[in-house]
Amino acid sequence: MARKDFLDIASLTREEVEYLLEQAVPFKDLFTRSVKKVPALKGKSVLMLFYEPSTRTHSSFEVAAKRMSADVIDLDVPQSSVTKGETVKDTVDTLQAMRADYIVVRHEMSGMPLAIARQTKASVINAGDGAHAHPTQGLLDAFTFKEVFPETDGRKVLIVGDILHSRVARSTSMVMRKLGVEVAFLGPGSLVPRDGTEGMRRFTDYEEAMKWSPDVVYLLRVQMERQDAQFFPSLGEYHRVYGVTQERLERLADKGTYIMHPGPVNRGVELCHEVMDYERSLINRQVENGIAARMAVLFWLKPGTGSEPPMTTE
Ligand code: CP
Repeated sequence: MARKDFLDIASLTREEVEYLLEQAVPFKDLFTRSVKKVPALKGKSVLMLFYEPSTRTHSSFEVAAKRMSADVIDLDVPQSSVTKGETVKDTVDTLQAMRADYIVVRHEMSGMPLAIARQTKASVINAGDGAHAHPTQGLLDAFTFKEVFPETDGRKVLIVGDILHSRVARSTSMVMRKLGVEVAFLGPGSLVPRDGTEGMRRFTDYEEAMKWSPDVVYLLRVQMERQDAQFFPSLGEYHRVYGVTQERLERLADKGTYIMHPGPVNRGVELCHEVMDYERSLINRQVENGIAARMAVLFWLKPGTGSEPPMTTE
């Protein structure tokens, strides 16, 4: 069933996730053609509203929208009236008057995309809100995972690092679980909360986690910008205890374990330089797949339709 907004993974059924993943396949095939454009969103406009920095999400939404022939309007937040104190509501009302069909929003406050979705007829896509959700990241991760493991049921993903502050951990763990993947977490006890990880294994010891034999080790960026306290002694200590060091990488290679990371990476913290050239690193493929996954989302949504979106937590 088509929807107006794409705000989280929690409100999607497994069938909807699988439908979106299937839709992304022909969009990815498009990348190998000489003409990489389809007219699917011709005459539609996509407004990019990023209140937080982004490289991958911002650029891949822009590429996705342009490949679908949409017009892209990118609000340069630092140069906009936001810096004069304009509220998000007033900004959205102003932009709504320009009749955008889609609004892609990233904001440091959890729930801001939902608040915007409730005040506009445009389809709102959550490009990451606070520590709440990053649903298109979850979707592209699931797409990448399924390319490697077409039968997802019973597979295992170990998510490593700063679970507490990570919207990626929430959305990616949730989409994986919807596909029947077993998910476990590894990190310092201070960064792996009990709330929200019920029913999943929690490890604080790297060697113990490896005995669980994950198919994929999914590394999270240590988000210094969201930490208001010291959760571990030092970045060097974090790397030694939880990072994929050169020695650990060799052991992962022996076992045939894949590595994923949403980016941007902190080299020397959650991983060593060599991971980027590791043959089972899916990190660059995740970026490539982000375009196809986001095209599938844009194609699925129907601006101007649907009822008021519900409030969910991931
Ligand atoms: N993975 C991700 O959200 O990266 P950006 O912050 O660069 O968009």
